[in-house]
Amino acid sequence: MPVNFVISTASPAQVKTDLLVIPMYSDHIFGPGADAVDVALDGGLSAFMEQAVFGGKVGEKLVVPTSDALGASSIVLIGLGKREEVTADGLRRAGAVAAKAAHEAVSMSTTLASAGPTDLDVAEASQAVVEGVLLGRYEYLDYKSDPKPSKLKRVSLLGRSAALRRGMDRGISVGTAVIWARDIVNTPGRDLSPAAFARAAQRLLRGKNVKVEVLDVPGLKRERLGGIIGVGMGSEQPPCLVKMTYAPAKSNATLALVGKGVTFDSGGLSLKPADGMEEMKTDEAGAAAVIAAMSVLKDFGVKTKVIAFTPMVENMPSGSAMRPGDVLTFRNGKTAEVRNTDAEGRLILADALALAAEAKPDAIIDLATLTGACMVALGDKIAGLMTNDNSWGEQVRTAADAVGEPVWPLPLPKEYKKLIYSEIADIRNTSTSRYGGEITAGLFLEEFVDGIPWVHLDIAGPSRTSSEDGYNCPGASGFGVRTLVELASRFRRPNRK
Ligand code: BES
Ligand code: ZN
Ligand code: ZN
Repeated sequence: MPVNFVISTASPAQVKTDLLVIPMYSDHIFGPGADAVDVALDGGLSAFMEQAVFGGKVGEKLVVPTSDALGASSIVLIGLGKREEVTADGLRRAGAVAAKAAHEAVSMSTTLASAGPTDLDVAEASQAVVEGVLLGRYEYLDYKSDPKPSKLKRVSLLGRSAALRRGMDRGISVGTAVIWARDIVNTPGRDLSPAAFARAAQRLLRGKNVKVEVLDVPGLKRERLGGIIGVGMGSEQPPCLVKMTYAPAKSNATLALVGKGVTFDSGGLSLKPADGMEEMKTDEAGAAAVIAAMSVLKDFGVKTKVIAFTPMVENMPSGSAMRPGDVLTFRNGKTAEVRNTDAEGRLILADALALAAEAKPDAIIDLATLTGACMVALGDKIAGLMTNDNSWGEQVRTAADAVGEPVWPLPLPKEYKKLIYSEIADIRNTSTSRYGGEITAGLFLEEFVDGIPWVHLDIAGPSRTSSEDGYNCPGASGFGVRTLVELASRFRRPNRK
């Protein structure tokens, strides 16, 4: 059930709503709207805060009893910490707290979007709040026999600027896209075959100014995409590749997106142990983020041309599966010895990156749940960033930081290249060393980008959340969608070497 967002100029004390959400700063400093509420309650708000020892620190929440003096049936105060330290991500988190508090309320009104420091753009603030509300309200209930979804249907942002509305519209667009990605990634493997995933992409992108082409197995063979064919061979569900093109009039730069779309990763003949396989229905998070981001470009009026390639496969063991020791030939003619069929992500990305590079874009970014090693290095909240072009890497990092999706650079040292030399093919898909597995995976991918500025984000950690955390709930997070939208919106050609 979708939520309806509106801008309302009603006063916080009078607005007719089930739940009024008012922000507060540290040391009992009132946030926007609190004065009006306090006056209507004859000073009752200050007194109640005092009594309840509510200070307004980040994460604090307080339900305040109302009387007939207010239009709202109940009030919740949300602590934001020091005003000058409030960030867009802090507002996004507060939006999620508000949405969770409103689980049983049909309507909610809030001044949160005006609670940022003076130098935070109002549009950015309202976008963050709306994203937070949508993502905080999200629950994956498709397989519950008696689902009890949030009752929240109507959210009023209290205020009166055009920027508030602009941010709201953007927040709806991005939040809806992230939810789409989460739904895809949460879908059990049996119910999301590569073909079903491709169809879902086609449905999502209808009317979004994105041309969608799907290559089936004969198409993959014709285009010599030996990596995608090789990995897909073990499954009864045939692989495919989705190519997307967003081509606005008068664009003067091209950005290419690539995403790993493994709908289920059993490991193949190099079968994963049971506990390593439990979460592997989420191995298409990179492709889901790419497709979701494509759906937002039109709404944002993005001026850059954006092309995207998402290879979709199921990695299964069977009599027709690729074997350890097999050699695959990729789109760009390079060959790789498959040492371990569980290192399948790089095999399908190799073809997709080569296709992207052929189109000669100004820059490439790929997102992939690629290695457990990256989670060992950076934990499960931070994505690993590897690049062949530091200025492009910086651009990606700035975008990711701006939208609250943390990434951290890892090197691609030339001296590690020898770890992926093969005795019989050009390269091998696993390293000869036990260490630095995320780096050797990155070095493998670099072989396919033809020197074009490229960033690889290993999102194995942050694509899933294990426990409730801000606007993320257990399961898929939709990580990467916001970064990609931000990147495409502000794209600058990286400095050519
Ligand atoms: N999909 C996995 C990586 C992964 C692991 C994602 C844990 C999310 C959580 C990937 O295909 C994989 O299996 N990688 C192997 C590579 C190894 C065989 C070189 C890994 O990381 O163990
Ligand atoms: Zn794998
Ligand atoms: Zn995988």
